[in-house]
Amino acid sequence: MYTTLARPLLPLALPLLLVPQPSPRLLPARAPLLRVLLPLPSLLVLIASGMSSAPTVAASTTFASGTTPTFLPNAPPLPNALSLNPANYPPLDKTPPVDSPEVQQWIKEVNATGIQIPDFAPTVAGGCPTNPDAVNDQSRCWWTCGGCAAPDDIEQCPDKMTWGLTYDDGPALYTGDLLAYLDQANLKATFFVVGSRAISYPALLQEEYMAQHQIAVHTWSHPPMTTLTNEQIIAELGWTKKVIKDVLGVTPTFWRPPYGDVDNRVRAIAKAMGLQTSIWTRISPEATFDTGDFDIAGGQTTSTQVLNNWENIIGNATTIDHGFIVLEHDLFQQTVDIAMDYILPDALAHQPPFKIEPIISCLNKPLQDAYIETNDNSSNPIGMSSAAPTGVSSASDGAHTTSPQTGASATGSASSAEASGNSSGASANGKNSAMGIAAPSSMGAIALALVSGVVALFL
Ligand SMILES: *[C@@H]1O[C@H](CO)[C@@H](O)[C@H](O)[C@H]1NC(C)=O
Ligand SMILES: *[C@@H]1O[C@H](CO)[C@@H](O)[C@H](O)[C@H]1NC(C)=O
Ligand SMILES: *[C@@H]1O[C@H](CO)[C@@H](O)[C@H](O)[C@H]1NC(C)=O
Ligand SMILES: *[C@@H]1O[C@H](CO)[C@@H](O)[C@H](O)[C@H]1NC(C)=O
Ligand SMILES: [Zn+2]
Repeated sequence: MYTTLARPLLPLALPLLLVPQPSPRLLPARAPLLRVLLPLPSLLVLIASGMSSAPTVAASTTFASGTTPTFLPNAPPLPNALSLNPANYPPLDKTPPVDSPEVQQWIKEVNATGIQIPDFAPTVAGGCPTNPDAVNDQSRCWWTCGGCAAPDDIEQCPDKMTWGLTYDDGPALYTGDLLAYLDQANLKATFFVVGSRAISYPALLQEEYMAQHQIAVHTWSHPPMTTLTNEQIIAELGWTKKVIKDVLGVTPTFWRPPYGDVDNRVRAIAKAMGLQTSIWTRISPEATFDTGDFDIAGGQTTSTQVLNNWENIIGNATTIDHGFIVLEHDLFQQTVDIAMDYILPDALAHQPPFKIEPIISCLNKPLQDAYIETNDNSSNPIGMSSAAPTGVSSASDGAHTTSPQTGASATGSASSAEASGNSSGASANGKNSAMGIAAPSSMGAIALALVSGVVALFL
């Protein structure tokens, strides 16, 4: 398998190592002083668990509060992100308490939409194997266990050869490197932002937004959402919407469930909170467009395996009659390095070319529709009043059938894949921890460990 990968991918990286020729990474547009500190692109084998930490690219600019984004009609001026006090937000990486005045208010607002929330009990920790009744209840339409998608779910881009580029779980230490790369390559992406990271790195979040990437919600503490009560789901989504609005002045209209863990109860609450559920492409139980990149840092997979998954993804992407969305992360150095050094250069060199853009753009919508405050409410009503999604979808590719056995058993390992338990990566190495439900707080722990000690690098 390695040989098939080495062909297209290694030649792209090797010349940069052997020839003193500038690569995009060596010439970050807005951080020239950092040039000499930036490492050469990594050899694949060096992108591994425990790799030595490279210097990071801090937020390149601090935007003055009051700066108005000119690229976004009707956008409010940027708030002063540096004035935000983390003490005014819930503790990091824990589901926020539901008895705060904020959450109580959001509960009332959800109720006032009149959207019916299905009366399913939360699932229990352990994922598909420990919830057989929920897996078999088709009215629940549980994406994680069986891949059931509701009609409203965004799982793909409509146009063939179009890639809705996404990065989850940031902003974090290496997001600045990725932003510099994307700038050089003239690419825009969708960032699914964790609220706990947003309050930790507000300047990086502003830089993402001002670079015209799409900012979307990825919960406050990254739990498997089907395990939470209705009130906890509201708290997770509400605080993430709030912190993003406090940092950017705008509130996202898209969200992605961590681990893709969504059912019709979670979908209905998200909809009542003005959030469009977006997952990633799944064309069969074996072909889920998850690179598995999250698992490199914890040693559950290798960079070679991730590139093998990537080869399968683009192989499948060129055969389907619609576009696609791939799961990748900007949380770890390993995930950012493999994106910058291998996945993106490979995708950019692909013939015929891929059109690479944020989800909002691949849906042929203007960036304004990505935020409540700038959304064109007449052409794009944000779904407050229609009924909750019900039943099992009949997606056009016919892949969304419920299969009770879907999902690997949890490994109990320190890291948790943001995978549906049946990604191409998971089935290939058998090491995926289904939905990460065994250790839902471990990602927060890893993120915190990474974050502490280097926090001074960031504003
Ligand atoms: C809203 O709350 C009221 C009072 O608790 C309840 O009777 C009603 O069913 C709720 N509506 C919805 C849509 O949940
Ligand atoms: C599609 O993905 C599956 C599973 O990852 C893989 O076995 C298959 O070879 C891929 N197809 C192509 C055309 O690459
Ligand atoms: C759309 O409606 C929201 C409230 O739901 C409002 O904040 C926003 O300003 C409206 N959009 C425009 C462009 O007026
Ligand atoms: C994925 O699902 C298929 C069919 O539903 C099953 O045969 C396979 O063992 C599963 N893989 C994992 C890793 O759970
Ligand atoms: Zn995530």
